[in-house]
Amino acid sequence: MCGIVAALAASDVTPFLIDGLRRLEYRGYDSAGLAVLEEGSAHIRRHRAVGRVAELAKQVGQGEAGLGIAHTRWATHGAVTEDNAHPHLSVGQGLEICLVHNGIIENHASLRHELKQAGYVFASQTDTEVVAHLLHQTRLKTTDLLQALMMVQRQLQGAYAIAAISSKDPGTLVATRLGAPLILGLGHQTTDVFLASDASALVSQTQDLVYLEDGDLVALSREASGGVVQRRLLDRSGQTVERPIQQTSLSADDVALGPYGHYMQKEMFEQPGALANTLEMVVGANSLSASLFGQSAASVFAQTEHVLILACGTSFHAGLVARYWLESLAHLPCTVEIASEYRYRQSVPLPKTLVITISQSGETADTLAALEHAKSQGLSQTLAICNVPESSLIRASSLRFLTRAGPEIGVASTKAFTTQLAALFLLSLTLAKGRQRLSAAEEQSHLTALRHLPAALKTVLAAESAFAGWAGRFVQKSHALFLGRGIHYPIALEGALKLKEISYIHAEAYAAGELKHGPLALVDAEMPVVAVAPNDQLLEKLRSNLEEVRARGGELYVIADQGTRFEPAEGLHVIELGDHAGLLSPILHVVPLQLLAYHVALARNHDVDKPRNLAKSVTVE
Ligand code: M6R
Repeated sequence: MCGIVAALAASDVTPFLIDGLRRLEYRGYDSAGLAVLEEGSAHIRRHRAVGRVAELAKQVGQGEAGLGIAHTRWATHGAVTEDNAHPHLSVGQGLEICLVHNGIIENHASLRHELKQAGYVFASQTDTEVVAHLLHQTRLKTTDLLQALMMVQRQLQGAYAIAAISSKDPGTLVATRLGAPLILGLGHQTTDVFLASDASALVSQTQDLVYLEDGDLVALSREASGGVVQRRLLDRSGQTVERPIQQTSLSADDVALGPYGHYMQKEMFEQPGALANTLEMVVGANSLSASLFGQSAASVFAQTEHVLILACGTSFHAGLVARYWLESLAHLPCTVEIASEYRYRQSVPLPKTLVITISQSGETADTLAALEHAKSQGLSQTLAICNVPESSLIRASSLRFLTRAGPEIGVASTKAFTTQLAALFLLSLTLAKGRQRLSAAEEQSHLTALRHLPAALKTVLAAESAFAGWAGRFVQKSHALFLGRGIHYPIALEGALKLKEISYIHAEAYAAGELKHGPLALVDAEMPVVAVAPNDQLLEKLRSNLEEVRARGGELYVIADQGTRFEPAEGLHVIELGDHAGLLSPILHVVPLQLLAYHVALARNHDVDKPRNLAKSVTVE
C-alpha cells in the first residue's frame, strides 16, 4: 500500500527520502514521488515517476533541501499515471501547498465539487488532490500551517495519514493521521526529525520513535536553517499532548536481504528461528500460563464460552486451522470469519465471546474495522495475535500475543503464518488447561512437541530442491487444484493462495471430500492436483479421493508423511516429509506449499516479493 516518508533536517533530506521510499517498496506500489523546499527558495520542487523508486531517483538531483515529503502510491482513486502520483500540489495567490496522503477520503466527491465552485482546477483523479486544495484554501485564511491542517482535518471523512509543506512556511512540516499509521523518528541531532508511515523507513536514522495516535496533529518547525527542530503535538480536540518516545528493536539489518535471492526465500528459511523465538517463553518456562496473553487473560479466559476469530487472507487461514485446535483441545465452539464480511453482516453476538483478531501487520483496515464492529456489538473481550508490537491492532485490543517472526517484507506471508499457528496452538492449549481439559502429562507432551518443532521445520526446508523440482511441471499450467482434509483443508487453501498470488496461476482449494460434488469435472491431464497427505485418521478417506482424481487422468502431487504408502508412479509424484507431527502437522505441511509457489513464480520470472496488483499491508478497505 501507499507509503509516506518526510524529513526536516540540517542537511539535504533528498538521500533520506529516496532511501526511505526504497525501504517501503516491499509494501507494494505503482508510482513514486517527492517534493522538497530548497533553502531560500519560494518554490516547491516536485518529481514524480510511474514505476519503481529507481526511476524517480534518476530524476532527482542533490540540493540544499532541508525539508521534504515523499510517497509511494498504490492506486485506489484514478489510474497509475504521473498526474495521479503524489505529492499533490495546489498553487495560487503566492502560495504553494504540497502534500502526500495514505488512506481514502470518503467525502472527496462533495469536497471536490465545492472546491471547483471556488475556482480550483484539478489535475488528477485522486481523492488526495482535494486535500491539497482544501489546505491551500484554508492556509490563505490563516497564519499558521498547523491551524490550517486542523481546520481541514475536521472536514475530512475516511482514513488518512497526511504530511504537508507550504512555500509560506519554509521551516515547517505538518502531519496528521486517523486510521492509518504515522510515526515520528527523532534524529540523533536535535536539528533532524523524520516522519514515516512505517518504522522500517526510519531505522536507518534512529530507533527513537513516537507513534502518533488517531486524530493527532504535529508541527515540526525551526526558526532558522539548521536550527533546533521544535515539536508541537496536538490531539484531535486541539489540546497539546505528549506521546511517549519508544525505542524500536527493529534495526536496519533486520530489513536487509542478506545472502538470499528474495525476501520470501529469506523469510521461509527464517521460520525455524521465528518459531523458536515465538515459543521461547513457553518452552523455557516448561508450563503454560494465561498471563502470556495479558494480565487479565486468566479471568477473561475463565469466562469464555465461545471464540470468534476475525482476519483476512493468510491470517484468516491461520484462524481456520485454529478452529480445529480450539474445538478439539479446549472444547470451545469457534467461529472464523473473513473480517471484510463480518463487519457488514448482521450477526448475532453470543455472550461470553472472546474475539480474536489475527494479523501480521496489525494495520489491515478490514480487520481493524471488524474489531471495532465486534466491540460495537458489545463483545468487549478482545485478543490480538500480531507481529508488530506498535500496531493499531495491538493498541485496540485488551489482550495480545506478539508473534516474534521479525519483519516480514515479502508480500506473500510465510513466517508470519507459521508463527501465528504456533501462537494459536499455545492459546488452544492454555484455554484447554484453564478448562481442565488438559492433564499435566498432556501439557508436557505438547510442550515437548513444540520444542522439537523448529528442528522438524528445518528438515522440511532441507527438501527444498525436491519441491523446486516439481515447479518446472507447473510453469506452463493455467490452473491447479489443492486438496486437503480436516485440519489440513485450510493448509490446502493457503497453498492455493500462495500459488495464485505470486505465480498468477489460477488455483483452487477443496476439502477432498467435496471433489465429487463438483470440482472433479475440472480434472484432466492439464490440471495438476496437489494433495496434503499427513498420516492421520483421515488418510484412507483422502486416498480414496485421490483415486478419483487418478481415474480421471489427473496428475497428482502428494505431500505425504512417512508411512503413508503412496508409491510414485506415472502421474503420481510423492515427496515424504518426516513422521506425522500430530496436531502440529499443519505447521510443517504448509512449508512445501510455500516452497512450491516460490519456485513456480521464479520459473515464471515473476517479481516474487512484489506481485502485481498486491500490497503488503492493506490499509484501505
Ligand atoms: O497483515 P495481515 O496479516 O492482516 O494481512 C492479511 C492479508 O492481507 C495477507 O495475509 C495476505 O493475504 C497475504 N499477502 C497472503 O500471502
